[in-house]
Amino acid sequence: MNMTREEIIAALNPDTDPAPLFARADQVRREQVGDAVHLRGLIEFSNYCRRRCYYCGIRAGNLKVRRYRLTPEQVLDCARTAVKLNYKTVVMQSGEDPYLSPRSLASMVERVKAETGLAITLSVGEHTKEDYKMLRSAGADRFLLRFETSDHKLFSMLKPDSDYENRFRCLAWLKEAGFQVGSGVMAGLPGQSAESMADDIPALQAAELDMIGIGPFIANPDTPMGGAVCGSLDAALRMVALARIVTLNTHIPATTAMGTVHPKGRQKALKCGANVLMPNISPTEHRVDYSLYPGKICTGDQPEDCAACVDAMLASLGRARAEGYGHTLKAVT
Ligand code: SAM
Ligand code: FES
Repeated sequence: MNMTREEIIAALNPDTDPAPLFARADQVRREQVGDAVHLRGLIEFSNYCRRRCYYCGIRAGNLKVRRYRLTPEQVLDCARTAVKLNYKTVVMQSGEDPYLSPRSLASMVERVKAETGLAITLSVGEHTKEDYKMLRSAGADRFLLRFETSDHKLFSMLKPDSDYENRFRCLAWLKEAGFQVGSGVMAGLPGQSAESMADDIPALQAAELDMIGIGPFIANPDTPMGGAVCGSLDAALRMVALARIVTLNTHIPATTAMGTVHPKGRQKALKCGANVLMPNISPTEHRVDYSLYPGKICTGDQPEDCAACVDAMLASLGRARAEGYGHTLKAVT
C-alpha cells in the first residue's frame, strides 16, 4: 500500500496521535501475517569488527570492548540450544571480523545446517558477490544487512569507512544469490531530519525486502556519537507501523533496541506491526561484550530465561509462537 511523502511525514510527527496509525498497522499485520510470532534465536558469535561506524559500540578502535570470538563448536552448541528451545531459526550475527574468512563462515554454516536443519540467517556485513553465493550454497537461507539510513550524507557521516552505493549493491547481490533478504534502519539518528527519516519508508518499500528491522538509535558513550540524543521509542514504533502498512507481509521484528529503551518496547512493537522476536541464545558470559549500546537487555540471562520471558510476553499479548521455519511470505521469483 502506498503512502505519500506528506502522509508519512505527518504520521511521524510526534504531535500527531499515533493510535490510529498503530491500529491500522496492527490490522494489516493480522490480515497479512496472522497472530503467530516467529522466534529467531540470536547468536552473537564475534564482536571483532574492522569498521568504525560512529554509532556502534563494537567499532574497531574501541579499546574498552573485551573482544571475543566463539569457536565453531560453541556456535554449534548455541544452535543445539535453539533446537532444545524449539526455535526454528538461528540468526548468526557478528562484526566484520577480519579473522573469520567467508570460507570459515561457510564451514560454520554447513555444520549448523547439517546437524540441526534449522533455518539459518546471517548478519555478518558486507562481502563480495562470490562470497555471498558461497554462504548461500553452504546452507544459509537468509541475510540481514541494514542500510541504516537512506540519507546518503548522513550515511557517509556515520559510516566513514563504508560506501552507501556498496551497501545497496550488497543487498542486490544477496537477492541474486537466492537469500531471503532483510534490511532496516535506525530511527532518530544524530543529525537526522524528520524528512530524512520519512524517506526511509519508501526506500524500505523499494528494496522489496523479506524482512525489515527497525530500532531506535541508542547513544553509546564509548563512541564518537556518545553525546548525541537517543532516538525515541515513539519514532521507532511509528516507523515499524509505517513499514508494515506499506510493505504488507514482510517479517518485522520487535527489536532488542526497542526493549532496551523501554521495558515494554517489544510488546508495543508487537502491537503496531511486528511479528517476530529474536531471543538471545549467545553464551551468557559473552553477552555483555556484544555492547552495541548501553543497557542492552538480557545480558545476564541464560538462553532458557529468554525463552521463558518471550513465552510469557506472548501469553500476555494473547499471541502464540509460530509453527514452522517462518520463511518469507513474499512470492518467490
Ligand atoms: N556487522 C553487521 C552489519 O553491520 O550489518 C551486523 C552487526 S551490526 C552491530 C547490527 C546492527 O546493530 C546494525 O545494523 C545497527 O543498526 C545496530 N546498531 C549498532 N549500533 C547501534 C546503536 N548505537 N543503537 C542502535 N542500534 C545499533
Ligand atoms: Fe562493525 Fe558495528 S562497526 S558491527
